[in-house]
Amino acid sequence: MSGIPACPEELAPCESVQDVCWLEQREVNVPAGDDWLSAQEATSLARLRFPKRHADWRLGRWTAKQAIATCFNLSSDHRALAAIEIRAAASGSPEVFLSGELAPVGISLSHSSGVALCALASRPRKAGEASLGCDVEAVEPRSDNFVGDYFTASEQKVIQQTPAENRPPLVTVLWSAKESALKALQEGLRLDTRSVEINLGTAFPTNRKCSGSSCLVLPRTSADSWRPLQVRYQGSSAFHGWWQHDDQLARTIVSRPPSRPPAHVSVIGTSEHPNLQLTIPAIMIPAIRS
Ligand SMILES: CC(C)(COP(=O)(O)OP(=O)(O)OC[C@H]1O[C@@H](n2cnc3c(N)ncnc32)[C@H](O)[C@@H]1OP(=O)(O)O)[C@@H](O)C(=O)NCCC(=O)NCCS
Repeated sequence: MSGIPACPEELAPCESVQDVCWLEQREVNVPAGDDWLSAQEATSLARLRFPKRHADWRLGRWTAKQAIATCFNLSSDHRALAAIEIRAAASGSPEVFLSGELAPVGISLSHSSGVALCALASRPRKAGEASLGCDVEAVEPRSDNFVGDYFTASEQKVIQQTPAENRPPLVTVLWSAKESALKALQEGLRLDTRSVEINLGTAFPTNRKCSGSSCLVLPRTSADSWRPLQVRYQGSSAFHGWWQHDDQLARTIVSRPPSRPPAHVSVIGTSEHPNLQLTIPAIMIPAIRS
């Protein structure tokens, strides 16, 4: 595998770059009541009969609404959150509605092991054009059969050249990046997972346990430390993105146009990134500030 191209690590060559922010929440953060859901969302929730799906859906909606309120500097009281709706498009991909109007906000959602991740971008999505995908996955060993069935030959080669103890995080990051890419394409697992190929580059070359230039040793990364990745689809570069993992979770976010490293926001206070450029047309805001 070749290294990651200069963009977006060195942003100058990029024609356009967008800001992406992300927020994570856990089940313990979700209020017991449902007064932060819209009437339509409450109806959708009532249709979900399986407890896990019910809990995941609430956690995802809560995380998305908190992310929107924080990233766009809106009120996060429950009445205001109820005016922010996350509806599923026909593909299953989420869309943001503010006071009933489709908002020019790119959004992607993921839940795993009682954690939900939401990524947002303010760039409007043009019809039929992929834009943003995110995924969070529990870091755990996956079988050789899993790797053989779902990864490309090139990805399998990188995995085989990696020491066994480093494979769980590597395979999890690669898998997560595939899911992010399949969400950004708005197709999910309707597409063959081998139709997207992930390149983590050669930024993490051989250590004492590896030989060979493409051997990857993934460093642990902190919540705000992202490393670049690239996604190829149908023979050409489709998305740039970012990955990170700790002992428990791997996270990936991919987008087109490329983004700067995603900005972590916290529901306590506002973004720690004062230069974050995320905006919603002013005309949409009064209704959700009242
Ligand atoms: C997208 C997909 C790969 C995610 O699966 P997953 O890894 O198990 O779940 P994650 O928690 O990471 O992501 C789930 C979120 O992805 C989003 N999503 C679902 N379908 C999506 C699509 N086609 N494009 C982009 N995002 C999608 C949703 O927001 C969903 O959460 P929500 O339903 O609570 O709103 C999977 O749902 C899929 O392939 N969906 C499309 C195919 C489909 O609908 N099959 C029928 C299922 S019964």
